[in-house]
Amino acid sequence: MDIRKTVLITGTTGAIGSMHLLELLKRNYRVICLVRGNDEVDRFKRLAAVVGQDIASRVQIINGEITQPLAGVGWEIINRLRGEVDIVIHHAGSIKFDRKWQNEIMATNIGGTANMLTLAKALSVNYFCYDSTAYTLNQIPRNPYEESKQVAEKMVLDWHSGKSMVWRPSIVVGRLSDGVTHGFNGYYGFFSGFFKLKEHLSKKWALNPEQCRVEGFEFTEKGILILSQPLCIDYSRESTLNLVAVNWAVSAMTDLMETARWNTAYNVVSTDPPKVAWVIERSFDILGIENVKRLTGNINVGMTSFWRNIQTTINSQLERFWPYINYEPVFISDALTPAPIVDLQFLKIMLQYAIQENFGYRK
Ligand SMILES: NC(=O)c1ccc[n+]([C@@H]2O[C@H](COP(=O)([O-])OP(=O)(O)OC[C@H]3O[C@@H](n4cnc5c(N)ncnc54)[C@H](OP(=O)(O)O)[C@@H]3O)[C@@H](O)[C@H]2O)c1
Repeated sequence: MDIRKTVLITGTTGAIGSMHLLELLKRNYRVICLVRGNDEVDRFKRLAAVVGQDIASRVQIINGEITQPLAGVGWEIINRLRGEVDIVIHHAGSIKFDRKWQNEIMATNIGGTANMLTLAKALSVNYFCYDSTAYTLNQIPRNPYEESKQVAEKMVLDWHSGKSMVWRPSIVVGRLSDGVTHGFNGYYGFFSGFFKLKEHLSKKWALNPEQCRVEGFEFTEKGILILSQPLCIDYSRESTLNLVAVNWAVSAMTDLMETARWNTAYNVVSTDPPKVAWVIERSFDILGIENVKRLTGNINVGMTSFWRNIQTTINSQLERFWPYINYEPVFISDALTPAPIVDLQFLKIMLQYAIQENFGYRK
């Protein structure tokens, strides 16, 4: 496909879409961003807060809410842009997993994609790219998110008004060079509760170390939190965890869009993922937390109520991740270049940025 085409892209205030916007501008595409917001100023501010004012000024921003018919885009804009847009890239979606969010997940991922396909038709767009997930390759969906993505990608591949392409990235983390990300979900969401716990305990430690030792924890001079009694997580020794850097993922998607066959789904994954146990254990080393163990036996035996409460909170926070840390299919990558290797340095880059940004929590 020729470059300098016009792309209408959704999800540019999010983790993947924002980086894809940078990649498209780098490759000289003309870009129109569909952003939700109260008014023009608000939409500009919301985009600029993520990608910076310079980048936000280089694109056209249109108002859109994908759960609305025609993704909430008004007829005046549709009439103005008809025939102007070559490709739609649809990233916007809900990345929640829990069943309690089922309605929102379905409305956003299935309804939102249906609305974007209708919008593409109304705009006379010929090419439609959709950001799905590699985990649709689980034949039986394990949560409403995977279910919604299976349905949505089928709708995209069945679209008859033009050609379509589905990208199936695995778990997307920050930029390889500096760890920058505009979303702290997925991999980060798994560790953010432990990060907050460490912060909380370090405040207690600053006030009364002796009492902390009695309660069962201490901090070393280097700031490592040592738990005298293990906290437990139930994860597999054998399964892998497929992490990919966002800059690689958006570049791989764009390469496919420019060169690969249409009406096809492509896995955007690592071919050599590490074991999930290695990722979890090394990530705790980097976070400076000692004595979080793989689940063994009855976690409550011998625990004081202080630690039992912490363990219970952790269990409820991590419940939604359980399938991902216990089973992963073997994915075959369709990307044209191999994904960066996930080694200790890779994890350090990602987590050091997350720590610097307080895992996305307000400081
Ligand atoms: N993150 C991953 O590891 C991963 C892996 C595989 C696939 N994916 C897929 O990649 C896509 C982007 O994920 P992400 O991690 O970048 O998510 P994210 O950081 O949560 O960003 C989601 C984006 O979608 C927009 N959006 C959500 N609901 C919308 C609505 N109703 N109308 C208009 N815009 C809406 C958000 O806009 P607001 O700022 O207005 O909320 C935001 O720009 C999703 O489709 C996800 O399923 C993600």
